[in-house]
Amino acid sequence: MSAPIATPWLSSQPDQDPRSATGKPLRWGVIATGGIARSVSQDLALLADAELRAVSSRGRDTAESFAGAYGFERAYWDDGGVSGYQRLLADDAVDVVYVATPHAQHHQMVLAALTAGKHVLCEKAFTINAREASALAAVARERKLFLMEAVWSRFLPGMQRAFEIAASGELGDVHWVTADLGFPAPYSPTSRLWARQDGGGALLDISVYPLLWAVGTLGFPQTVSATGFINDDGVDAQNALTLGYNHGAQAQLTSSLLAFGPRTATVAGSLGYLQSVGSINNPRELVIGVGRAGLRTEEFEVVGLGYTYELREVTRCIQQGLTESPVMPLEDSIKTMRLFDGVRSQLGVSYANDAH
Ligand SMILES: NC(=O)c1ccc[n+]([C@@H]2O[C@H](COP(=O)([O-])OP(=O)(O)OC[C@H]3O[C@@H](n4cnc5c(N)ncnc54)[C@H](OP(=O)(O)O)[C@@H]3O)[C@@H](O)[C@H]2O)c1
Repeated sequence: MSAPIATPWLSSQPDQDPRSATGKPLRWGVIATGGIARSVSQDLALLADAELRAVSSRGRDTAESFAGAYGFERAYWDDGGVSGYQRLLADDAVDVVYVATPHAQHHQMVLAALTAGKHVLCEKAFTINAREASALAAVARERKLFLMEAVWSRFLPGMQRAFEIAASGELGDVHWVTADLGFPAPYSPTSRLWARQDGGGALLDISVYPLLWAVGTLGFPQTVSATGFINDDGVDAQNALTLGYNHGAQAQLTSSLLAFGPRTATVAGSLGYLQSVGSINNPRELVIGVGRAGLRTEEFEVVGLGYTYELREVTRCIQQGLTESPVMPLEDSIKTMRLFDGVRSQLGVSYANDAH
């Protein structure tokens, strides 16, 4: 049985230091000032060819303090009936926008950014559903603007190496994958992790990471079977997905907002297996066991917090006139949202955006 993946999503520049310039500097705008906007801005400042141009927030204080803390030249906020993000998008000196709002606002923000002629990097989950994802891809393609979902883990050295090992045939034919990710998120009806109006739940927040181990080594599945614990607010506190493949493979993925798991991924083939221990979204160590040769460990250094690699990819693609990343194509974001739509329909989870 041969490996089913035609495109193993391998980076064209795996050994490049992501901080080093690849061309003309890009001028960045960041929409929102929450947790991930802070981490990504910290890494953005490490890139030699990134200019931190502007940040937008709903509030003046948060906009100004974020700009000061991370070195953005300008701050925009909601004022006089005009949103901060609209004011940022009207800034001609912004080339590319990073959208870091909760998922439920991604479609609205990305659409506005593309309409304003900006290239876009948008956080995961890309959108709330596949309809929104397809619509954004169509606008980006029509306007010939770059658009990518910020699945940063896909670009990390340890993840790229896991994909490479699986695609190389060293493990033989891959037959099963397991991956888990979870943490106990304190319940609050207004936290974006739990709030239904923000797209709350484990599926849209976490499941992209266990799924990455399956799609990166087996491709997208033919069948998905889901179970989950749905809380009183109607969002999934945790879920378990079984993916089925016609070529004789399966994957079992667990995501939880209730429990700490080992955060381990295993990829098992007819000749051997590999395991990522400790952090499946930022793998620092892979253990590989093939036949009777004993175990081999490979370790990986990460530049900055790890977001530098996706930021380099966005920069390189835009500098080269590409409108999609070959490593994280829009079709994969659409397929992911389609898969999540199917899971939600099995679990009975719906969001306000589904009705629009
Ligand atoms: N790649 C990763 O490692 C990673 C990690 C964490 C999260 N994420 C993703 O990033 C996104 C944000 O997560 P986060 O943890 O940063 O969330 P967060 O800390 O709650 O921050 C979200 C920010 O978005 C803005 N915002 C909140 N509600 C809004 C609304 N209704 N309309 C417009 N803007 C709103 C706020 O910024 P202002 O007050 O400045 O407007 C808020 O600080 C999510 O989609 C999440 O899945 C990715």
